[in-house]
Amino acid sequence: MGRQVLVTGGTGYIGSHTVVELQAVGFDVVIIDDLSNSSADVVDNIEKISGIRPAFEEFNLLDLAKLEAFFEKYSRIEAIIHFAAFKAVGESVAKPLSYYRNNLVSLMNILDCMSKYKISNLVFSSSCTVYGQPDQLPVTENTPKKDAESPYGNTKAISEEILRDVVKVNNALKVIALRYFNPIGAHPTSLIGELPRGVPNNLVPFITQTAAGIRQQLSVFGNDYNTEDGSCIRDYINVVDLAKAHVIAIDRLINNTNDDRHEFFNVGTGYGASVLEIVNTFEEATGVKVNYKIVDRRPGDVEKIYADTTIANTVLGWKAETSLSDTLLSAWNWEKRLRNIG
Ligand code: WQD
Repeated sequence: MGRQVLVTGGTGYIGSHTVVELQAVGFDVVIIDDLSNSSADVVDNIEKISGIRPAFEEFNLLDLAKLEAFFEKYSRIEAIIHFAAFKAVGESVAKPLSYYRNNLVSLMNILDCMSKYKISNLVFSSSCTVYGQPDQLPVTENTPKKDAESPYGNTKAISEEILRDVVKVNNALKVIALRYFNPIGAHPTSLIGELPRGVPNNLVPFITQTAAGIRQQLSVFGNDYNTEDGSCIRDYINVVDLAKAHVIAIDRLINNTNDDRHEFFNVGTGYGASVLEIVNTFEEATGVKVNYKIVDRRPGDVEKIYADTTIANTVLGWKAETSLSDTLLSAWNWEKRLRNIG
């Protein structure tokens, strides 16, 4: 029986890919998810990929009584990867209290239970949004954090401060915060991938839905930025490569090879790609044209951000491996399978 790890939000986009990678190296994974932004058939597809059906409990982490009952039941858990959170930037502007309550109280309930049930290892899903629009690029883990552009981003910044303060008083607690850049793509089997509800906020699912004819046209939010082609720059990271970073982080904590009890790592590729470059690379990789038009800038967008991945590469021992082209092709293959396109 492998060492047991809890993955909250484990039927979500990054969570499901991480469950598969954890199972691949022998961990016994348990999922908690409230299915507010995913569906239970993701558990079936995880099983199809790995041959192992993870235990799955459906409830919201705000319910502390249920969470405590969960830890009474699953007493072998040695580590937690905490993904469960609301994550739509635009929605968070419209519903700030819902985001602060869900994202912060969930984390606090997890931390309370870690103390009560003597679980000391936590990998936290953080975000490059804590950097805002950096003054210098690429961003390192020591780049000063800036005011978040959205309540969503602020919940990540506040969560990191909560973790900092709790680590100080809970001497058993060890935390690794992984600051994601822009996760994209899908599992090579096309059995799991990104499944946004309604109209996609993010670029790549909008591209693949446009290519599939579900959306009429992609709007490129601005080409008057101070970049080579005028469109914004981001660091797009393959979701399987990102999932593998979580496995390495869990190993680091469980095997006590961490340098201190609260570590941060930028999980990106170190390469900044523009929106138009993403569109062009998608067309080249898939042979499918993307119908798009240039429109006004989207409020809240930062112009340019990409990671300095030196620390992740040298200290964590992780490096992104998958090309942008292969990653965009995986996103398209996932979309085609979703829509039964040949
Ligand atoms: C990328 C670029 C848009 C849609 C995301 C997550 C955030 C964080 C970082 C994890 C921008 C442009 C987009 C469209 C477009 N990840 N765009 N047309 O805003 O960088 O943030 O990654 O924490 O949570 O939301 O990602 O995919 O929305 O935008 O032109 O229809 O694509 O302007 O330049 P973003 P995104």
